[in-house]
Amino acid sequence: MNNGSGRPPARHPPSGRPSQPSVADPSDDNTSDNDEDTHSDASADLCELADEDFPASFVTRDGRLFHSHGRLPYPLPADGREQKRLEAQNLVLKDVMGSICPDMRLVREVLASGTGRALDLCTGTGQWVKDMAVMFPQVKVIGIDIVPIQTRYPPGRAQFEIADITEGLRHESNSFDLVHARCTAFSVTEQRYPIMLRDVARVLRPGGLFISGEFRNYPVFPERRPGRNDPDILCPHFFRFLGLTAQALGLLGVRWDLSCKIPQWLEASGSFYNITRRTFELPIGDWHPEQRHSGIKAAEIFVGFVEAMESFLGYSGLIPKEELARLMGGAIYELQHVSGLVMYYDVVCAHKR
Ligand SMILES: C[S@@+](CC[C@H](N)C(=O)[O-])C[C@H]1O[C@@H](n2cnc3c(N)ncnc32)[C@H](O)[C@@H]1O
Repeated sequence: MNNGSGRPPARHPPSGRPSQPSVADPSDDNTSDNDEDTHSDASADLCELADEDFPASFVTRDGRLFHSHGRLPYPLPADGREQKRLEAQNLVLKDVMGSICPDMRLVREVLASGTGRALDLCTGTGQWVKDMAVMFPQVKVIGIDIVPIQTRYPPGRAQFEIADITEGLRHESNSFDLVHARCTAFSVTEQRYPIMLRDVARVLRPGGLFISGEFRNYPVFPERRPGRNDPDILCPHFFRFLGLTAQALGLLGVRWDLSCKIPQWLEASGSFYNITRRTFELPIGDWHPEQRHSGIKAAEIFVGFVEAMESFLGYSGLIPKEELARLMGGAIYELQHVSGLVMYYDVVCAHKR
């Protein structure tokens, strides 16, 4: 079932298929009451993916599975290894923020008196959607991604749609209380992000809430003495690896340090107010006395990230493959052994006017 663009259309994968990732099963009791999304102009187009459509979503490279949307910049794999990494990252971020968003009061307030609908852009395995659906079973939570890697049995009123967010959201204006976008920096080019924010403003109801969460692109050593905190010296391989990643993504128009720009773009759009940014520190490794468990997990997540970028960087033409292998080896060693390393994670919130 291909729509001629080389991609499957927005859709529900078929029910009753044992091993495929999927979205709400129409025969499932907890979704059948409102499976047809009356606020989405995608409803009429939603159809089940046939088995033969799944290969159209993926391509194999260097032993890993990637999305097959050649036009899109997203460089990370979509295979089981990457899905596990995203799920571990979801747990670590919840640990660091205290919940699925740092200010749950804002989330509760906005959901209390509105459309009863929330949207998650670039949902990945849909972990945020699932967490939301469990916490707010009355809310319809929709996750969008280009690849069908979500559960076939989402809880509550959760639902997944396969679509490219850079093509414009297919949902009605003013139809969501909350739009969430986490770790989307690699998915949307710098040029498109402000356009996407206009679309976010369109689908949010007045007073609705936008929340973004993005990692900064370089680590820091906040607890070191001034003059001794230079990541370039303390973890040179990881630092260079990140620089190379930023350079390779930059060639595709992707700006990694997106979180610094998002508040400016929100402000410039004129559509948002109460724009705030909170920064969380994520220690990498087992050195932090209070965050040892998260730190160990965070080191694994970033090691997984380094490995996941190998194919993309290998084809970037910026570094010979043998040199890349050495650089990755050094970066992984530093992630596992250098003490005091911290990554910043920025959460930006804004209300729609
Ligand atoms: C780093 S993952 C983040 C997943 C999820 N937000 C999380 O925090 O766990 C980015 C996701 O964006 C998806 N993606 C990339 N480009 C996209 C696009 N143009 N439209 C929709 N999803 C996209 C990828 O398939 C991937 O699952």
